[in-house]
Amino acid sequence: MVDRSPFVVVANRLPVDEVTTDTPGGRVTGSGDSRRRWRRSPGGLVTALHPVLVERHGTWIGWSGSPGPAPEPFELDGINLRPVPLSEEDLERYYEGQSNATIWPLYHDNVEPPVFRRRWREAYRVVNRRYAEAAAEVAAQGATVWVQDYQLQLVPAMLRELRPDLKIGFFLHIPFPPIELFMQLPQRAEVLRGLLGADLVGFQQRLAAQNFIRLARHLLGTPYHGNVIEYEGRQVKADAFPISIDVGEMQRLADNPLVRERAVQIRAELGDPKTVILGVDRLDYTKGIEHRLKAYRELLAAGRLSVPESVMVQVATPSRERVEHYQALRIKVEREVGRINGDFGRVGVPAVHYLHQSYSRSELAALYCAADVMMVTPLRDGMNLVAKEYVAARLEHGGALVLSEFAGAAGELRQAFLCNPHDLDAVKDALMRAVTVDEHEARRRMSVMQRHLRRHDVARWASDFLTELGAIP
Ligand code: ADP
Ligand code: G6P
Repeated sequence: MVDRSPFVVVANRLPVDEVTTDTPGGRVTGSGDSRRRWRRSPGGLVTALHPVLVERHGTWIGWSGSPGPAPEPFELDGINLRPVPLSEEDLERYYEGQSNATIWPLYHDNVEPPVFRRRWREAYRVVNRRYAEAAAEVAAQGATVWVQDYQLQLVPAMLRELRPDLKIGFFLHIPFPPIELFMQLPQRAEVLRGLLGADLVGFQQRLAAQNFIRLARHLLGTPYHGNVIEYEGRQVKADAFPISIDVGEMQRLADNPLVRERAVQIRAELGDPKTVILGVDRLDYTKGIEHRLKAYRELLAAGRLSVPESVMVQVATPSRERVEHYQALRIKVEREVGRINGDFGRVGVPAVHYLHQSYSRSELAALYCAADVMMVTPLRDGMNLVAKEYVAARLEHGGALVLSEFAGAAGELRQAFLCNPHDLDAVKDALMRAVTVDEHEARRRMSVMQRHLRRHDVARWASDFLTELGAIP
Protein backbone atom coordinates (compact mmCIF):
# COMPACT_ATOMS: atom_id res chain seq x y z
CA MET A 1 0.00 0.00 0.00
CA VAL A 2 1.22 3.47 -0.80
CA ASP A 3 1.33 6.10 1.95
CA ARG A 4 -1.49 8.59 2.07
CA SER A 5 -0.84 11.45 -0.32
CA PRO A 6 -1.43 15.17 0.06
CA PHE A 7 -1.94 15.41 -3.72
CA VAL A 8 -3.96 12.95 -5.78
CA VAL A 9 -4.80 12.87 -9.49
CA VAL A 10 -7.76 10.75 -10.58
CA ALA A 11 -8.07 9.94 -14.29
CA ASN A 12 -9.63 7.14 -16.31
CA ARG A 13 -6.18 5.91 -17.34
CA LEU A 14 -2.87 5.74 -15.51
CA PRO A 15 -0.12 7.66 -17.30
CA VAL A 16 1.81 4.46 -18.03
CA ASP A 17 2.02 1.84 -20.74
CA GLU A 18 2.79 -1.77 -20.07
CA VAL A 19 5.82 -2.80 -22.06
CA THR A 20 6.40 -6.25 -23.42
CA THR A 21 9.67 -8.10 -22.85
CA ASP A 22 10.93 -7.30 -26.33
CA THR A 23 10.44 -3.53 -25.85
CA PRO A 24 13.57 -1.83 -24.52
CA GLY A 25 13.35 0.31 -21.37
CA GLY A 26 10.61 0.19 -18.74
CA ARG A 27 10.87 -0.45 -15.03
CA VAL A 28 10.06 -3.77 -13.45
CA THR A 29 7.60 -3.76 -10.57
CA GLY A 30 6.26 -6.54 -8.37
CA SER A 31 7.87 -9.91 -7.92
CA GLY A 32 7.51 -13.51 -9.09
CA ASP A 33 4.64 -14.01 -11.52
CA SER A 34 3.32 -10.51 -10.93
CA ARG A 35 6.49 -8.91 -12.38
CA ARG A 36 5.34 -6.46 -15.00
CA ARG A 37 7.19 -3.71 -16.84
CA TRP A 38 5.86 -0.20 -17.18
CA ARG A 39 6.94 2.96 -18.89
CA ARG A 40 5.62 6.48 -18.41
CA SER A 41 3.38 7.25 -21.36
CA PRO A 42 4.18 10.34 -23.39
CA GLY A 43 1.70 13.15 -22.96
CA GLY A 44 1.45 16.71 -21.77
CA LEU A 45 -0.76 16.07 -18.75
CA VAL A 46 1.63 13.70 -17.00
CA THR A 47 4.63 15.84 -17.96
CA ALA A 48 2.97 18.90 -16.46
CA LEU A 49 1.91 17.15 -13.29
CA HIS A 50 5.08 15.12 -12.82
CA PRO A 51 7.03 17.79 -10.86
CA VAL A 52 4.01 18.48 -8.62
CA LEU A 53 3.43 14.76 -8.05
CA VAL A 54 7.09 14.13 -7.17
CA GLU A 55 7.40 17.17 -4.91
CA ARG A 56 4.17 16.45 -3.05
CA HIS A 57 4.49 12.64 -2.92
CA GLY A 58 1.45 12.48 -5.10
CA THR A 59 -0.56 9.49 -6.23
CA TRP A 60 -2.21 8.96 -9.62
CA ILE A 61 -5.30 6.76 -9.62
CA GLY A 62 -6.43 5.16 -12.88
CA TRP A 63 -6.88 2.09 -15.04
CA SER A 64 -3.77 0.22 -16.21
CA GLY A 65 -5.04 -0.39 -19.73
CA SER A 66 -5.69 -4.15 -19.37
CA PRO A 67 -9.03 -5.64 -18.36
CA GLY A 68 -9.26 -7.79 -15.24
CA PRO A 69 -7.79 -7.53 -11.76
CA ALA A 70 -5.68 -4.44 -11.08
CA PRO A 71 -1.92 -4.74 -10.57
CA GLU A 72 -0.66 -3.91 -7.06
CA PRO A 73 0.07 -0.18 -6.47
CA PHE A 74 3.59 0.67 -7.63
CA GLU A 75 5.96 3.56 -8.04
CA LEU A 76 7.38 4.80 -11.32
CA ASP A 77 9.65 7.83 -11.83
CA GLY A 78 8.76 9.16 -8.37
CA ILE A 79 4.97 8.91 -8.83
CA ASN A 80 2.80 6.53 -6.82
CA LEU A 81 0.44 4.70 -9.11
CA ARG A 82 -2.75 3.18 -7.80
CA PRO A 83 -4.42 0.99 -10.45
CA VAL A 84 -8.21 0.66 -10.48
CA PRO A 85 -9.59 -2.60 -11.94
CA LEU A 86 -11.95 -2.58 -14.92
CA SER A 87 -13.53 -5.84 -16.06
CA GLU A 88 -14.47 -6.60 -19.66
CA GLU A 89 -18.05 -5.73 -18.74
CA ASP A 90 -17.00 -2.41 -17.18
CA LEU A 91 -15.10 -1.58 -20.35
CA GLU A 92 -18.09 -2.38 -22.49
CA ARG A 93 -20.61 -0.46 -20.39
CA TYR A 94 -18.76 2.33 -18.55
CA TYR A 95 -15.93 3.09 -21.03
CA GLU A 96 -17.19 2.17 -24.51
CA GLY A 97 -20.85 2.66 -23.61
CA GLN A 98 -21.69 5.54 -21.28
CA SER A 99 -18.39 7.44 -21.67
CA ASN A 100 -17.76 7.02 -25.38
CA ALA A 101 -21.11 6.26 -27.01
CA THR A 102 -23.30 8.51 -24.83
CA ILE A 103 -21.36 11.39 -23.26
CA TRP A 104 -18.62 11.84 -25.90
CA PRO A 105 -20.99 12.46 -28.85
CA LEU A 106 -23.46 14.47 -26.75
CA TYR A 107 -20.74 16.80 -25.48
CA HIS A 108 -19.39 17.21 -29.03
CA ASP A 109 -22.53 18.84 -30.42
CA ASN A 110 -24.23 15.49 -31.17
CA VAL A 111 -22.11 15.18 -34.32
CA GLU A 112 -23.10 11.53 -34.12
CA PRO A 113 -26.31 10.57 -32.30
CA PRO A 114 -25.59 9.58 -28.70
CA VAL A 115 -26.80 6.15 -27.61
CA PHE A 116 -28.67 5.94 -24.29
CA ARG A 117 -28.71 2.68 -22.31
CA ARG A 118 -29.85 2.23 -18.74
CA ARG A 119 -27.31 -0.47 -17.94
CA TRP A 120 -24.47 1.77 -19.13
CA ARG A 121 -25.58 4.52 -16.74
CA GLU A 122 -25.56 2.09 -13.86
CA ALA A 123 -22.07 0.85 -14.80
CA TYR A 124 -20.85 4.46 -15.02
CA ARG A 125 -22.12 5.02 -11.48
CA VAL A 126 -20.53 1.85 -10.13
CA VAL A 127 -17.16 2.53 -11.75
CA ASN A 128 -17.14 6.21 -10.72
CA ARG A 129 -17.73 5.04 -7.13
CA ARG A 130 -14.75 2.69 -7.43
CA TYR A 131 -12.48 5.59 -8.43
CA ALA A 132 -13.94 7.80 -5.67
CA GLU A 133 -13.34 5.09 -3.06
CA ALA A 134 -9.76 4.63 -4.23
CA ALA A 135 -9.19 8.39 -3.92
CA ALA A 136 -10.80 8.48 -0.47
CA GLU A 137 -8.44 5.72 0.60
CA VAL A 138 -5.18 7.25 -0.58
CA ALA A 139 -5.81 10.95 0.11
CA ALA A 140 -4.24 12.37 3.29
CA GLN A 141 -6.24 14.61 5.64
CA GLY A 142 -7.05 17.89 3.84
CA ALA A 143 -5.40 16.68 0.59
CA THR A 144 -5.97 18.19 -2.82
CA VAL A 145 -7.59 15.81 -5.30
CA TRP A 146 -7.72 16.67 -8.99
CA VAL A 147 -10.25 14.64 -11.01
CA GLN A 148 -9.88 14.57 -14.82
CA ASP A 149 -12.39 14.41 -17.63
CA TYR A 150 -15.81 13.20 -18.76
CA GLN A 151 -15.38 9.55 -17.74
CA LEU A 152 -15.39 10.57 -14.05
CA GLN A 153 -17.97 13.31 -13.65
CA LEU A 154 -19.68 11.68 -10.66
CA VAL A 155 -16.44 11.33 -8.70
CA PRO A 156 -16.32 14.85 -7.14
CA ALA A 157 -19.68 14.46 -5.33
CA MET A 158 -19.04 10.84 -4.36
CA LEU A 159 -15.65 11.76 -2.97
CA ARG A 160 -16.96 14.77 -1.06
CA GLU A 161 -19.51 12.53 0.62
CA LEU A 162 -16.78 10.10 1.67
CA ARG A 163 -14.19 12.75 2.55
CA PRO A 164 -15.59 16.24 3.24
CA ASP A 165 -12.12 17.36 4.40
CA LEU A 166 -10.65 17.25 0.88
CA LYS A 167 -10.13 20.07 -1.58
CA ILE A 168 -11.50 18.80 -4.89
CA GLY A 169 -10.81 20.10 -8.38
CA PHE A 170 -12.27 18.81 -11.64
CA PHE A 171 -11.11 19.53 -15.19
CA LEU A 172 -13.14 18.70 -18.29
CA HIS A 173 -10.84 18.18 -21.29
CA ILE A 174 -13.69 18.07 -23.80
CA PRO A 175 -16.34 20.70 -24.62
CA PHE A 176 -19.24 21.26 -22.23
CA PRO A 177 -22.46 21.39 -24.26
CA PRO A 178 -25.10 24.13 -24.30
CA ILE A 179 -28.12 23.60 -22.03
CA GLU A 180 -30.41 22.33 -24.82
CA LEU A 181 -28.05 19.46 -25.58
CA PHE A 182 -27.11 18.61 -22.01
CA MET A 183 -30.82 18.32 -21.18
CA GLN A 184 -31.02 15.22 -23.42
CA LEU A 185 -28.83 13.27 -21.00
CA PRO A 186 -31.04 10.92 -18.97
CA GLN A 187 -28.55 11.15 -16.09
CA ARG A 188 -28.41 14.95 -16.33
CA ALA A 189 -29.14 16.01 -12.73
CA GLU A 190 -26.87 13.29 -11.36
CA VAL A 191 -23.96 14.35 -13.59
CA LEU A 192 -24.46 18.00 -12.72
CA ARG A 193 -24.56 17.24 -8.99
CA GLY A 194 -21.50 15.05 -9.48
CA LEU A 195 -19.52 17.97 -10.88
CA LEU A 196 -20.85 20.35 -8.23
CA GLY A 197 -19.11 18.17 -5.65
CA ALA A 198 -15.88 19.94 -6.68
CA ASP A 199 -14.62 23.26 -5.30
CA LEU A 200 -13.33 24.29 -8.70
CA VAL A 201 -14.62 23.05 -12.05
CA GLY A 202 -12.29 23.88 -14.96
CA PHE A 203 -13.17 24.02 -18.66
CA GLN A 204 -11.22 24.63 -21.85
CA GLN A 205 -13.17 27.75 -22.74
CA ARG A 206 -15.04 30.55 -21.00
CA LEU A 207 -18.20 29.73 -22.95
CA ALA A 208 -18.19 26.21 -21.51
CA ALA A 209 -17.87 27.56 -17.95
CA GLN A 210 -20.80 29.86 -18.66
CA ASN A 211 -22.84 26.95 -20.06
CA PHE A 212 -22.20 25.10 -16.82
CA ILE A 213 -23.21 27.99 -14.57
CA ARG A 214 -26.38 28.63 -16.58
CA LEU A 215 -27.19 24.93 -16.60
CA ALA A 216 -26.93 24.68 -12.80
CA ARG A 217 -29.34 27.59 -12.51
CA HIS A 218 -31.71 26.07 -15.06
CA LEU A 219 -31.73 22.53 -13.71
CA LEU A 220 -31.25 23.01 -9.96
CA GLY A 221 -32.13 26.69 -9.48
CA THR A 222 -28.71 27.36 -7.92
CA PRO A 223 -27.99 31.08 -7.49
CA TYR A 224 -24.64 32.42 -8.72
CA HIS A 225 -22.59 35.59 -8.70
CA GLY A 226 -19.94 36.00 -11.37
CA ASN A 227 -18.41 32.56 -11.83
CA VAL A 228 -19.26 31.26 -8.36
CA ILE A 229 -22.25 28.95 -7.83
CA GLU A 230 -23.91 28.67 -4.42
CA TYR A 231 -24.67 25.00 -3.89
CA GLU A 232 -25.78 23.24 -0.70
CA GLY A 233 -24.12 25.82 1.55
CA ARG A 234 -20.82 25.70 -0.39
CA GLN A 235 -19.34 27.74 -3.19
CA VAL A 236 -18.33 26.10 -6.45
CA LYS A 237 -16.18 28.09 -8.84
CA ALA A 238 -16.32 27.50 -12.62
CA ASP A 239 -13.54 28.90 -14.77
CA ALA A 240 -11.66 28.46 -18.06
CA PHE A 241 -8.15 26.99 -18.17
CA PRO A 242 -7.18 26.30 -21.80
CA ILE A 243 -4.84 23.32 -21.74
CA SER A 244 -1.57 23.33 -23.65
CA ILE A 245 1.41 21.16 -24.54
CA ASP A 246 4.96 20.69 -23.33
CA VAL A 247 6.31 23.31 -25.73
CA GLY A 248 9.95 22.73 -24.72
CA GLU A 249 9.72 19.00 -25.44
CA MET A 250 8.33 19.56 -28.94
CA GLN A 251 10.89 22.27 -29.71
CA ARG A 252 13.75 20.05 -28.53
CA LEU A 253 12.48 17.20 -30.68
CA ALA A 254 12.12 19.45 -33.72
CA ASP A 255 15.66 20.71 -33.12
CA ASN A 256 17.15 17.23 -32.83
CA PRO A 257 19.37 16.43 -35.85
CA LEU A 258 17.99 12.89 -36.08
CA VAL A 259 14.41 14.21 -36.25
CA ARG A 260 15.41 16.76 -38.88
CA GLU A 261 17.11 14.09 -40.90
CA ARG A 262 14.02 11.93 -40.64
CA ALA A 263 11.85 14.85 -41.83
CA VAL A 264 14.02 15.18 -44.94
CA GLN A 265 13.78 11.43 -45.47
CA ILE A 266 9.97 11.52 -45.15
CA ARG A 267 9.77 14.21 -47.82
CA ALA A 268 12.04 12.18 -50.07
CA GLU A 269 9.93 9.07 -49.52
CA LEU A 270 6.87 11.10 -50.51
CA GLY A 271 8.61 11.96 -53.80
CA ASP A 272 9.86 15.42 -52.77
CA PRO A 273 6.56 17.14 -53.55
CA LYS A 274 6.21 20.90 -53.54
CA THR A 275 3.55 20.76 -50.82
CA VAL A 276 3.11 18.18 -48.08
CA ILE A 277 -0.30 18.46 -46.43
CA LEU A 278 -0.60 16.63 -43.09
CA GLY A 279 -3.44 15.49 -40.82
CA VAL A 280 -2.80 13.76 -37.47
CA ASP A 281 -5.81 12.69 -35.44
CA ARG A 282 -7.27 9.86 -33.45
CA LEU A 283 -9.64 8.14 -35.87
CA ASP A 284 -12.62 9.95 -34.33
CA TYR A 285 -15.75 11.33 -35.99
CA THR A 286 -15.34 14.65 -34.17
CA LYS A 287 -12.07 15.34 -36.04
CA GLY A 288 -13.61 16.10 -39.45
CA ILE A 289 -11.24 13.73 -41.29
CA GLU A 290 -13.81 12.92 -43.97
CA HIS A 291 -14.57 16.60 -44.59
CA ARG A 292 -10.88 17.33 -45.00
CA LEU A 293 -10.40 14.46 -47.45
CA LYS A 294 -13.40 15.56 -49.43
CA ALA A 295 -12.09 19.13 -49.65
CA TYR A 296 -8.76 17.80 -50.93
CA ARG A 297 -10.52 15.58 -53.48
CA GLU A 298 -12.56 18.47 -54.84
CA LEU A 299 -9.45 20.64 -55.16
CA LEU A 300 -7.72 17.86 -57.11
CA ALA A 301 -10.78 17.38 -59.28
CA ALA A 302 -10.94 21.10 -60.05
CA GLY A 303 -7.22 21.18 -60.87
CA ARG A 304 -6.54 23.72 -58.11
CA LEU A 305 -4.14 21.15 -56.60
CA SER A 306 -2.42 18.32 -58.39
CA VAL A 307 -0.46 15.17 -57.69
CA PRO A 308 2.56 14.75 -57.40
CA GLU A 309 3.19 18.49 -56.72
CA SER A 310 1.05 18.11 -53.61
CA VAL A 311 0.56 15.08 -51.46
CA MET A 312 -1.51 14.46 -48.37
CA VAL A 313 -0.49 12.35 -45.38
CA GLN A 314 -3.30 11.39 -43.02
CA VAL A 315 -2.29 9.70 -39.77
CA ALA A 316 -5.38 8.25 -38.11
CA THR A 317 -4.54 6.71 -34.76
CA PRO A 318 -6.64 3.63 -33.94
CA SER A 319 -9.10 4.53 -31.21
CA ARG A 320 -12.11 3.01 -29.37
CA GLU A 321 -12.31 0.35 -32.04
CA ARG A 322 -15.15 -1.64 -30.50
CA VAL A 323 -17.55 1.33 -30.50
CA GLU A 324 -19.92 1.24 -33.48
CA HIS A 325 -19.60 4.94 -34.41
CA TYR A 326 -15.85 4.43 -34.75
CA GLN A 327 -16.19 1.32 -36.88
CA ALA A 328 -18.55 3.16 -39.22
CA LEU A 329 -16.17 6.10 -39.46
CA ARG A 330 -13.23 3.87 -40.35
CA ILE A 331 -15.20 2.43 -43.26
CA LYS A 332 -16.15 5.91 -44.51
CA VAL A 333 -12.64 7.34 -44.22
CA GLU A 334 -11.01 4.34 -45.88
CA ARG A 335 -13.55 4.44 -48.69
CA GLU A 336 -12.79 8.13 -49.29
CA VAL A 337 -9.01 7.48 -49.26
CA GLY A 338 -9.52 4.67 -51.77
CA ARG A 339 -11.63 6.91 -53.97
CA ILE A 340 -9.06 9.72 -54.00
CA ASN A 341 -6.18 7.36 -54.75
CA GLY A 342 -8.23 5.59 -57.39
CA ASP A 343 -9.05 8.85 -59.16
CA PHE A 344 -5.85 10.82 -58.73
CA GLY A 345 -3.01 8.43 -57.82
CA ARG A 346 -0.60 6.69 -60.14
CA VAL A 347 1.53 3.59 -59.74
CA GLY A 348 3.92 4.39 -56.89
CA VAL A 349 2.39 7.87 -56.41
CA PRO A 350 -0.68 7.86 -54.18
CA ALA A 351 -2.49 11.16 -53.62
CA VAL A 352 -3.17 10.34 -49.96
CA HIS A 353 -0.89 8.34 -47.69
CA TYR A 354 -3.20 6.92 -45.04
CA LEU A 355 -1.60 5.52 -41.88
CA HIS A 356 -3.82 3.82 -39.30
CA GLN A 357 -1.02 3.53 -36.72
CA SER A 358 0.47 4.99 -33.55
CA TYR A 359 3.86 6.69 -33.67
CA SER A 360 6.62 7.69 -31.29
CA ARG A 361 6.93 11.36 -30.30
CA SER A 362 10.02 11.73 -32.47
CA GLU A 363 8.32 10.31 -35.57
CA LEU A 364 5.37 12.67 -35.00
CA ALA A 365 7.78 15.60 -34.63
CA ALA A 366 9.48 14.57 -37.90
CA LEU A 367 6.09 14.51 -39.63
CA TYR A 368 5.30 17.99 -38.30
CA CYS A 369 8.69 19.22 -39.53
CA ALA A 370 8.09 17.67 -42.94
CA ALA A 371 4.66 19.24 -43.46
CA ASP A 372 4.15 22.55 -45.27
CA VAL A 373 0.49 22.64 -44.31
CA MET A 374 -1.15 21.07 -41.28
CA MET A 375 -4.90 20.46 -41.45
CA VAL A 376 -6.78 20.42 -38.15
CA THR A 377 -10.46 20.52 -39.00
CA PRO A 378 -12.53 19.09 -36.13
CA LEU A 379 -16.28 19.60 -36.14
CA ARG A 380 -15.91 20.19 -32.40
CA ASP A 381 -12.87 19.75 -30.15
CA GLY A 382 -12.22 20.76 -26.54
CA MET A 383 -8.75 22.08 -27.42
CA ASN A 384 -6.80 20.05 -30.04
CA LEU A 385 -3.20 19.60 -28.99
CA VAL A 386 -2.03 18.51 -32.44
CA ALA A 387 -2.54 22.07 -33.68
CA LYS A 388 -0.33 23.38 -30.87
CA GLU A 389 2.29 20.66 -31.42
CA TYR A 390 2.61 21.59 -35.09
CA VAL A 391 3.13 25.25 -34.27
CA ALA A 392 5.71 24.40 -31.60
CA ALA A 393 7.60 22.13 -34.00
CA ARG A 394 7.99 24.79 -36.72
CA LEU A 395 11.30 26.11 -35.44
CA GLU A 396 12.09 27.93 -38.66
CA HIS A 397 8.75 29.71 -38.34
CA GLY A 398 7.50 28.52 -41.71
CA GLY A 399 4.52 26.35 -42.55
CA ALA A 400 0.81 27.01 -42.31
CA LEU A 401 -1.94 25.74 -40.05
CA VAL A 402 -5.50 25.30 -41.31
CA LEU A 403 -7.64 25.26 -38.18
CA SER A 404 -11.32 24.73 -37.50
CA GLU A 405 -13.15 27.52 -35.67
CA PHE A 406 -14.71 24.75 -33.59
CA ALA A 407 -11.46 23.65 -31.95
CA GLY A 408 -10.71 25.25 -28.58
CA ALA A 409 -7.25 26.06 -29.98
CA ALA A 410 -8.86 28.55 -32.40
CA GLY A 411 -9.40 30.86 -29.42
CA GLU A 412 -5.62 31.22 -29.09
CA LEU A 413 -4.07 30.44 -32.49
CA ARG A 414 -5.64 33.38 -34.28
CA GLN A 415 -2.95 33.52 -36.99
CA ALA A 416 -3.97 30.11 -38.33
CA PHE A 417 -6.08 29.88 -41.51
CA LEU A 418 -9.38 29.53 -39.70
CA CYS A 419 -12.38 27.87 -41.31
CA ASN A 420 -15.81 26.41 -40.68
CA PRO A 421 -15.32 22.67 -41.32
CA HIS A 422 -19.01 22.22 -42.15
CA ASP A 423 -18.59 24.57 -45.10
CA LEU A 424 -16.62 22.61 -47.67
CA ASP A 425 -15.91 25.66 -49.81
CA ALA A 426 -14.52 27.45 -46.78
CA VAL A 427 -12.22 24.49 -46.01
CA LYS A 428 -11.05 24.45 -49.63
CA ASP A 429 -10.36 28.19 -49.60
CA ALA A 430 -8.49 28.01 -46.29
CA LEU A 431 -6.39 25.11 -47.60
CA MET A 432 -5.57 27.00 -50.81
CA ARG A 433 -4.64 30.13 -48.86
CA ALA A 434 -2.35 27.99 -46.68
CA VAL A 435 -0.78 26.27 -49.71
CA THR A 436 -0.12 29.54 -51.52
CA VAL A 437 0.79 31.85 -48.60
CA ASP A 438 4.09 33.63 -49.18
CA GLU A 439 6.99 32.64 -47.00
CA HIS A 440 7.29 35.95 -45.20
CA GLU A 441 3.62 35.97 -44.21
CA ALA A 442 3.80 32.30 -43.13
CA ARG A 443 6.76 33.03 -40.88
CA ARG A 444 5.07 36.07 -39.40
CA ARG A 445 1.96 34.10 -38.51
CA MET A 446 3.92 31.18 -37.10
CA SER A 447 6.15 33.33 -34.94
CA VAL A 448 3.17 35.14 -33.34
CA MET A 449 1.58 31.77 -32.49
CA GLN A 450 4.88 30.37 -31.19
CA ARG A 451 5.30 33.36 -28.90
CA HIS A 452 1.83 32.75 -27.48
CA LEU A 453 2.58 29.05 -26.89
CA ARG A 454 5.89 29.71 -25.19
CA ARG A 455 4.05 31.79 -22.60
CA HIS A 456 1.15 29.35 -22.29
CA ASP A 457 2.52 25.85 -21.96
CA VAL A 458 1.04 22.93 -20.06
CA ALA A 459 3.06 23.62 -16.90
CA ARG A 460 1.43 27.04 -16.69
CA TRP A 461 -1.99 25.45 -17.27
CA ALA A 462 -1.47 23.08 -14.32
CA SER A 463 -0.11 25.77 -12.06
CA ASP A 464 -2.94 28.19 -12.93
CA PHE A 465 -5.52 25.54 -12.05
CA LEU A 466 -3.82 24.42 -8.85
CA THR A 467 -3.18 28.01 -7.72
CA GLU A 468 -6.83 28.89 -8.18
CA LEU A 469 -7.90 25.71 -6.38
CA GLY A 470 -5.43 26.41 -3.57
CA ALA A 471 -6.78 29.93 -3.14
CA ILE A 472 -10.30 28.66 -2.46
CA PRO A 473 -10.87 28.83 1.29
P1 ADP B 1 -7.53 13.98 -28.57
O1 ADP B 1 -7.18 14.28 -27.16
O2 ADP B 1 -8.98 14.10 -28.89
O3 ADP B 1 -6.98 12.69 -29.08
P2 ADP B 1 -5.58 16.07 -29.19
O4 ADP B 1 -5.16 16.61 -30.51
O5 ADP B 1 -5.91 17.09 -28.17
O6 ADP B 1 -6.81 15.10 -29.48
O7 ADP B 1 -4.44 15.16 -28.57
C1 ADP B 1 -3.95 14.04 -29.27
C2 ADP B 1 -2.58 13.66 -28.75
O8 ADP B 1 -2.26 12.36 -29.25
C3 ADP B 1 -1.49 14.59 -29.24
O9 ADP B 1 -0.55 14.81 -28.21
C4 ADP B 1 -0.85 13.82 -30.40
O10 ADP B 1 0.53 14.07 -30.57
C5 ADP B 1 -1.06 12.38 -29.98
N1 ADP B 1 -1.21 11.53 -31.19
C6 ADP B 1 -2.10 11.69 -32.18
N2 ADP B 1 -1.94 10.76 -33.14
C7 ADP B 1 -0.93 9.98 -32.74
C8 ADP B 1 -0.27 8.83 -33.30
N3 ADP B 1 -0.65 8.27 -34.47
N4 ADP B 1 0.74 8.29 -32.60
C9 ADP B 1 1.12 8.83 -31.42
N5 ADP B 1 0.54 9.89 -30.85
C10 ADP B 1 -0.47 10.48 -31.49
C1 G6P C 1 -9.40 12.57 -25.26
C2 G6P C 1 -10.04 12.52 -23.90
C3 G6P C 1 -9.13 11.78 -22.93
C4 G6P C 1 -8.78 10.43 -23.50
C5 G6P C 1 -8.14 10.56 -24.87
C6 G6P C 1 -7.82 9.22 -25.52
O1 G6P C 1 -8.27 13.36 -25.19
O2 G6P C 1 -10.31 13.84 -23.44
O3 G6P C 1 -9.78 11.63 -21.67
O4 G6P C 1 -7.90 9.75 -22.62
O5 G6P C 1 -9.03 11.28 -25.71
O6 G6P C 1 -8.94 8.39 -25.55
P1 G6P C 1 -9.03 6.97 -24.81
O7 G6P C 1 -10.47 6.60 -24.89
O8 G6P C 1 -8.14 6.07 -25.62
O9 G6P C 1 -8.52 7.14 -23.41
